[in-house]
Amino acid sequence: MPKPKIYVTRKIAQEALDLISEKTEMEVWGGELPPPYETLREKAGTADGLLTLLTDRIDIPLLETAPRLKVISNLAVGYDNIEVTEATRRGIVIGNTPGVLTETTADLAFALLMAAARRIVEADNYTRQGRWRTWGPQTLLGQDIHGASLGIIGLGRIGVEMARRGRGFGMPILYYGPHRKSEALEKDLGAEYLADLKDLLSASDFISVHVPLTPSTEKLIGRAEFQLMKKTAVFINTARGGIVDQEALYEALSSGGIFAAGLDVTDVEPIPPDDPLLRLSNVIITPHIASASFRTRKKMALMAAENLLAGLRGELPPNCVNPEAFKNPTKDI
Ligand code: GLV
Repeated sequence: MPKPKIYVTRKIAQEALDLISEKTEMEVWGGELPPPYETLREKAGTADGLLTLLTDRIDIPLLETAPRLKVISNLAVGYDNIEVTEATRRGIVIGNTPGVLTETTADLAFALLMAAARRIVEADNYTRQGRWRTWGPQTLLGQDIHGASLGIIGLGRIGVEMARRGRGFGMPILYYGPHRKSEALEKDLGAEYLADLKDLLSASDFISVHVPLTPSTEKLIGRAEFQLMKKTAVFINTARGGIVDQEALYEALSSGGIFAAGLDVTDVEPIPPDDPLLRLSNVIITPHIASASFRTRKKMALMAAENLLAGLRGELPPNCVNPEAFKNPTKDI
């Protein structure tokens, strides 16, 4: 029986590629940038499985011209780059990489929180530019982190880890989300649920976003929401850029509406070099690197390989976002 055809859209950890190539006829896009959409669509046209990144758009036209496709394994916990409903309708299972990146992502979110509050990047630039001429009583003042309240939007896996980091700094934790969490978790984190997002925005010193991008969270944080925040507030987004109205964020940052922001995600990515946000000194922007540690990226790649191979065997991938697509096991590898 011929081996299934797999297209991998970027070079990932070799251990994961070895696992895949042992069982399949694998092709890897070798470019540093993602394959152009038309290339991806053409490759998907003859593939049994795809290993994709969040930079690959898997839309309806692509799925329509991919008759053999059984599994899409996304190397990310988020999967808003994939038309899940259409894939499900076509019986294509989708894998993602939750869990292994939770703490690494929370580490980066907390690093951004600290860096934005204490103006670390600005201070480093100041030093490099030769502007450190004395110890200045009013130089580069920032916001205290210890004891300040941390408002978490979305207390899922990553939100919980962010809360734990905040607890370590003596921060009272507030959270908002569609559902209140268990009393045991609230007690463990010392977290207070606020059923109204407005209350969280106006009460928090730091606000960190940890929800997926869905139609109901798109532009969740806009002009009205920034206006509710304290002038001293620090806003952190390591989730998805589309959750925030970026123009409203610019207005808030440039007018003193909030103190600072730390972003690992923007709307769009990469952020264009002439975006007005990049002219502001009170925003730190990292290039979507929250899960980028050596160890975590390797774990993600291995998990993505396992999801892919399980889907090809006609089994439910260990981490599947649409188990309802799972049908007719074929067991052909
Ligand atoms: C990164 O943003 C991910 O979803 O894993």
